[in-house]
Amino acid sequence: MSKLEEIKSGRLPQHLAIIMDGNGRWAKERGKLRVFGHQNGVQAVRQTVETAAKLQIGYLTLYAFSTENWKRPKMEVDTLMRLLVTSLRKELKTLTENNIRLNAIGCVESLPGKAVQELREVIKRTENNDGMTLTLALSYGAREEITSAVKALGTKVKNSIISPEKIDESIINDHLYTRGLPDVDLLIRTSGEYRISNFLLWQIAYAELYFTDVFWPDFNEEHLLEALKSYQNRERRFGKISEQLN
Ligand code: IPE
Ligand code: IPE
Ligand code: MG
Repeated sequence: MSKLEEIKSGRLPQHLAIIMDGNGRWAKERGKLRVFGHQNGVQAVRQTVETAAKLQIGYLTLYAFSTENWKRPKMEVDTLMRLLVTSLRKELKTLTENNIRLNAIGCVESLPGKAVQELREVIKRTENNDGMTLTLALSYGAREEITSAVKALGTKVKNSIISPEKIDESIINDHLYTRGLPDVDLLIRTSGEYRISNFLLWQIAYAELYFTDVFWPDFNEEHLLEALKSYQNRERRFGKISEQLN
């Protein structure tokens, strides 16, 4: 049995989320500009998406650009936005072939017009695919997401659409960008940083965390399977004790 088949036969996360980090350092190590790292990160995205689809993972969410990343030098931000547009265009084929539905979370409207347009187009053209849901977090920040959910709920309370006593976790879920997606089961971060950087704070409440030193452009199928193997060896107790499980 191949390693992929072995992993596939075990317990898999329903929702896998990844903080794709280390593009800049990967390029720097090679004496290149940071944008060279971003360009090389695209093939790691493709490989990861294809492997996740092969494993029949239901939901894959990728952190591609944070609300804080707007503070980077303009040239880098511009390159990232251009790369987003060209990648979406190129990868539509990969998405279609693998029956993947594209979704986006974040303050998507704040992206340049061309990126918004391309994103909408690919989302539309893949909306009937019923395999994996691939969610791109773009101009995403968990605090911004929670703030806008609170605002929306506050307005509904003010207009007597909902009473405050009725607000529960499921209603909060419905007001987040991730409405309709299950909680994250496994969160991977590459590049040896041990932080969350404002990603899916609400949704990772009980996620298993996996950190690897590998820089994102080097992250391949082997690394992904390694992370999934680690996930399969963990006991998720959700507050209970071992004896209560199963
Ligand atoms: C991740 O790589 C990609 C984005 C945040 C857009 P970085 O660009 O953060 O690379 P490092 O962490 O500086 O090496
Ligand atoms: C997190 O990486 C954002 C993305 C991967 C898109 P950063 O490189 O921006 O995070 P920090 O600044 O090191 O925490
Ligand atoms: Mg980084």
